[in-house]
Amino acid sequence: MLNGKRILLIIGGGVAAYKALELARRLMERGATVKGILTSGGQEFITPLSVASLTNNECYTDLFSLKDEAEMGHIRLSREADLIVIAPATADLMAKMAGGIANDLASTVLLATDKPVMVAPAMNAQMWDHPATKRNIETLKSDGIHFVAPGSGMLACGEIGAGRLAEVPDMVEAIEEFFHGNIQPLTGKHAVVTAGPTHEPIDPVRYIANRSSGKQGFAVAGALAALGAKVTLVAGPVTEETPPGVNRVDVETALQMKAAVDDALPADVAVCVAAVADWRVENDVGQKLKKTKDGLPDFQLTENPDILAGLCSRTDNRPTLVIGFAAETENIVEYATVKRTRKGCDLIVANDVSATTGIMGGADNEVHIISEFGDEAWPKLSKTEVASRLALKIADILESK
Ligand code: CTP
Repeated sequence: MLNGKRILLIIGGGVAAYKALELARRLMERGATVKGILTSGGQEFITPLSVASLTNNECYTDLFSLKDEAEMGHIRLSREADLIVIAPATADLMAKMAGGIANDLASTVLLATDKPVMVAPAMNAQMWDHPATKRNIETLKSDGIHFVAPGSGMLACGEIGAGRLAEVPDMVEAIEEFFHGNIQPLTGKHAVVTAGPTHEPIDPVRYIANRSSGKQGFAVAGALAALGAKVTLVAGPVTEETPPGVNRVDVETALQMKAAVDDALPADVAVCVAAVADWRVENDVGQKLKKTKDGLPDFQLTENPDILAGLCSRTDNRPTLVIGFAAETENIVEYATVKRTRKGCDLIVANDVSATTGIMGGADNEVHIISEFGDEAWPKLSKTEVASRLALKIADILESK
């Protein structure tokens, strides 16, 4: 948490400036107060009004419009923060900082400050790789400036390479780490996470499946590992990459998933994110089913074991905290509330998987966290952010048990 921390957020020019708004929101949710400075480049992408309304504070743009400039307002602004964060930081702004140039509000504040500064660069890959930028970064590092490294991938300019502004959760993590050190509240805890779909064979070439991508479950496994947990991720057939520090067990069917979860116990927390197939084919068909004139193929379905409900009702080795996900297409909160009680889990994370929401297989999620205390609605977030918040919640609950 960032209770009471004062952050001065300098927003430079770049397509990624919109991410600074989300960053401000996340920092405030964690208890920080945020004041914004928007450079003239930044104003080409977002408005001072959006920064001001989001931060509930004035947004500063111009060196000479600070109301109390007679009292050296820019100096005061630079001193009353606990941390100055620049996101996105352009090559130009970093060059000014490295050269000690102060010709606008942002660069003047940065030269006048005696407070720590954290830079999250964003620029074209060639600019990032340019010797001048590298030199400037070295200078800034030796001046004690902190950095949140940019990511790689498709850039706004259409080129591929390094230079993309770090993701918001990574910036939040870097800021929290700056204030508190690398605290890992789940160190020593074991988490079991199920993710992805299951495939239930019909015959040697066909199977029953569903649209789950595994993204949300993999993100949950990664977020728990990032907080120090030992994580066993039991994954159905998906193409997601294993998050760092996670021990992955690949399975195909619901029966294999259940066996792998049971094998992984004991655990402090189990998070069942998998979209387990409800049914499997009971009779062993053996050979490929052929079309015949006598009608439809002869196979019977039987219900798969409910892995989540099984974990909840264990008399030995029940994890301290068992969390389910509820995939609903209507009456989300009502159905999920009933599902939580029926399955006996401590929390259920409910989401609307109607085709129109794009949640199944998509990058974002909008969830309700349902517990014995009722329903907590979270805004639409990336699946990574849902996972980070859920991991923090898990850490809080386990600490209070
Ligand atoms: N789940 C499970 N094993 C199953 C079915 C579901 O562990 N055989 C878990 C899922 O991982 C999820 C939760 O139960 O955490 C709810 O899954 P969901 O598909 O929403 O519910 P169902 O049990 O399939 O109920 P319904 O089909 O009535 O919505």
